[in-house]
Amino acid sequence: MTIPVGIVGASGLVGGELLRLLDAHPDFRVVYAGSSGKREESGPVALAQIHPHLLGRPAGELTLDRTRVSRIAGTCTAVFLATPPVVSASLAPALLDAGVEVVADLSAAFRICDPVVHKRWYPEVSRPWSSHQPVYGLPELNRDLLPGARLISVPGCLATASILALYPLCRMAGTRFSHITIDAKAGSAGSGTRLQATGLHALRSHVVAPYAPAGHRHAAEIRECLTGHGLATTDGGLRLGMSAYGVDLIRGASVAVYAWTDDDVRSTDLITMFRDTYQQERFVRVIDWASGAIPMPDPKAVIGSNYCDVAPVVDADDAGRLVIISVLDTLTKGAAGQAIQACNRRFGWPEDAGLNLQPVFPA
Ligand SMILES: NC(=O)c1ccc[n+]([C@@H]2O[C@H](COP(=O)([O-])OP(=O)(O)OC[C@H]3O[C@@H](n4cnc5c(N)ncnc54)[C@H](OP(=O)(O)O)[C@@H]3O)[C@@H](O)[C@H]2O)c1
Repeated sequence: MTIPVGIVGASGLVGGELLRLLDAHPDFRVVYAGSSGKREESGPVALAQIHPHLLGRPAGELTLDRTRVSRIAGTCTAVFLATPPVVSASLAPALLDAGVEVVADLSAAFRICDPVVHKRWYPEVSRPWSSHQPVYGLPELNRDLLPGARLISVPGCLATASILALYPLCRMAGTRFSHITIDAKAGSAGSGTRLQATGLHALRSHVVAPYAPAGHRHAAEIRECLTGHGLATTDGGLRLGMSAYGVDLIRGASVAVYAWTDDDVRSTDLITMFRDTYQQERFVRVIDWASGAIPMPDPKAVIGSNYCDVAPVVDADDAGRLVIISVLDTLTKGAAGQAIQACNRRFGWPEDAGLNLQPVFPA
């Protein structure tokens, strides 16, 4: 028996990717698609009119609804929210209170646990703290918390790449870190369909645009997650900074993480730790630096798939610096694929149900 699901934000980029992936899912069936309602003002809108990749597919014939909680609760067991954080903050509890069994929210509304930190980074998003505790939906780290979850908060795309690059360091007993620098390059799909002057093709193409040289919001999420998983820091505590650039990609993202330690770490030990950490993981591939068809890792080798490729190395000429490059498809492992992976775990199915996708190469 399939489980009926809804997608709110179905007209957006993440919504479109959820629809693409759920089309091939053996156990989920999309029965509802919601959006803000502005597109349907002059008549019904079928999803294939917005997402051409759905032409001829059953989901392409679904029409958008202006997001009515009672209608969703009456038809859906689970709901994916691919909406702005202010929308998710009120919609998720309303859906759960109305009887929806599971809500997976892909926005930042529920990612940070500490109310003070949340308020500092997302002052415009007020959310209820007492009801419906969210589970941070990164299966590689929080697999055991997902089976009972009702509210799953799906991590950000750059946060996912960064955390998967850093998680093995949390398991290196006796190695303490003082500084972490995250240098992220992301494609244009990360900004969604919102029209902004800086998103014009003439301005967005062929750039290396430092859109967040400091103060990227994902830094707070990454710090909270690493601290929660026991990253050992020097007595002065951890200094963590992130800079992000928009580059000439669409779905890809590449994150270079530099972690500094005074302890002795050899390259072979680092690689062994990464391999041990991820050997059972279906979607994390530990890569040796290699220059085959293209130098790896590169987002070009994961586009369209749920993979995150990570490559660790110790900088022998710069004592104490570990370099980890991590790449993913922002819409798949960075959003929709990860949400489905977490929900697969929630419902007790194989984590790769509906996600057995090879990358499209060259993309
Ligand atoms: N893009 C990425 O790579 C990425 C990765 C990870 C997480 N995310 C997060 O996922 C969420 C969606 O991102 P996106 O890139 O898909 O954005 P998007 O393309 O701008 O889509 C936003 C969607 O939200 C809908 N929406 C807006 N206000 C609404 C309301 N009041 N009620 C119901 N629906 C409403 C929009 O409907 P209309 O079309 O009617 O306006 C649209 O379908 C965001 O929170 C984003 O931060 C995005």
